[in-house]
Amino acid sequence: MSFESAFVMDTSSIKFGPGVTREVGYEMKRLGATLVLVVTDPHLSNSEMIDITLKALREEGIDVVLYDQVRVEPTDQSFKQAIAFASAGNFDGYVAVGGGSVIDTAKAANLYATYPADFLDYVNPPIGRGVPVPGALKPLIAIPTTAGTGSETTGVAIFDLLEMHAKTGIAHRALRPVMGIIDPHNTRTLAPMVAACSGLDVLSHAIESLTAIPFSQRPAPTSPQLRPAYQGANPISNVWSSRAIEMVSENIIKVIQDPEDDDARGQMLLAAAFAGIGFGNAGVHLPHGMSYPVSGMVRSYIPEGYEHVGRPIIPHGMSVILNAPAVFRFTASANPKVHLHAAKLMGADISAADGDAGEVLATAIIQVMKKTGMPNGLKAVGFTEADVEVLAEGTLPQHRVTKLSPRPASKDDLKQLFLDSMILW
Ligand SMILES: NC(=O)c1ccc[n+]([C@@H]2O[C@H](COP(=O)([O-])OP(=O)(O)OC[C@H]3O[C@@H](n4cnc5c(N)ncnc54)[C@H](O)[C@@H]3O)[C@@H](O)[C@H]2O)c1
Repeated sequence: MSFESAFVMDTSSIKFGPGVTREVGYEMKRLGATLVLVVTDPHLSNSEMIDITLKALREEGIDVVLYDQVRVEPTDQSFKQAIAFASAGNFDGYVAVGGGSVIDTAKAANLYATYPADFLDYVNPPIGRGVPVPGALKPLIAIPTTAGTGSETTGVAIFDLLEMHAKTGIAHRALRPVMGIIDPHNTRTLAPMVAACSGLDVLSHAIESLTAIPFSQRPAPTSPQLRPAYQGANPISNVWSSRAIEMVSENIIKVIQDPEDDDARGQMLLAAAFAGIGFGNAGVHLPHGMSYPVSGMVRSYIPEGYEHVGRPIIPHGMSVILNAPAVFRFTASANPKVHLHAAKLMGADISAADGDAGEVLATAIIQVMKKTGMPNGLKAVGFTEADVEVLAEGTLPQHRVTKLSPRPASKDDLKQLFLDSMILW
């Protein structure tokens, strides 16, 4: 087997600034769109940011249709509903206004409306067939309202496959929005728990992409077309991921304690995009792979701030961070220096680390979890030791991300990691 010798760095254009949402009409016109589908979720449908978006597009003479039925944490069914709506409309442009759920749904609607196919064709193997996207999609502009998934910079769309109770996704660089319009005004209304969960998702994106196996340790693809979007850590993604860790660590508590702090919210939005550029090219690993069955198997848990969703939910960022301390204790032996570096970027004192890089990083993460009001481990969101077999089985098919772990994890390792995540402090 030969190893990979190249990496690719892709990202969306970024436009950043308070109030910059009003420039979406100018940008869509520049891209040549005449009939645009604006995608959002029911909770944001009557928000000021939707009003501003619709007005800005109309002022440029662009016809707009609003689709506001995105499901928070989308499923194959909710993707298919959006795809059917988009396919009936002959749209030549898309604007997503919302969090990762909205942006990912807009990506899927654009993909299948442009290149119709059986739903599982483009879905990541082994669950789907992993067929490469045939060509360019219609222009999509993403306006994130959480800080956040970084989905405005990535070629990834994540959904819950209901029949498997597990999350999977579609990953191809053609899915990447042409532009992310990042406007700190748009996160003013975030509930503290939504800000915490989405902010900890950013932190984990950044640490996972920094600690992922280097791209040069992946098998070489047989054709450039088959080079995955998630390639492993590389010198450019490391720059973006490292800076994102610092920015989240400096600002996440500030935005939760004081939603009026415009500067901190701007920094968190930028951190989300920075981490998106990092992990969108390098990938994530075990905390994300293990999060998918955790959120897919939710029973009755509803965190404060998510009541309007109207059903039990373990928000994505929460399901990721609950596994992170145990994972980094496990993976640190593969590259202790990188794990220690991540802890240092979080502000931890590593001078007395005494070689236990995993413990230092796990402790730094747990401190932030406590300060942001996260539950104390998987038990606190409804799981018991009896669930670890099924949780591990739900993680195994997530090859695309688990393969990037710097230390390979067997099914028994995963079971132990879930056990170690039951109670964190
Ligand atoms: N594509 C990617 O690269 C990527 C990366 C990470 C996660 N994801 C996916 O993204 C989804 C999670 O996205 P998210 O964390 O951004 O949250 P979200 O989109 O699921 O939104 C969470 C809740 O916050 C509300 N909300 C969003 N913005 C708001 C605002 N400004 N004011 C008030 N309420 C607001 C929404 O209505 C929703 O109820 C998951 O499905 C996850 O798997 C995708």
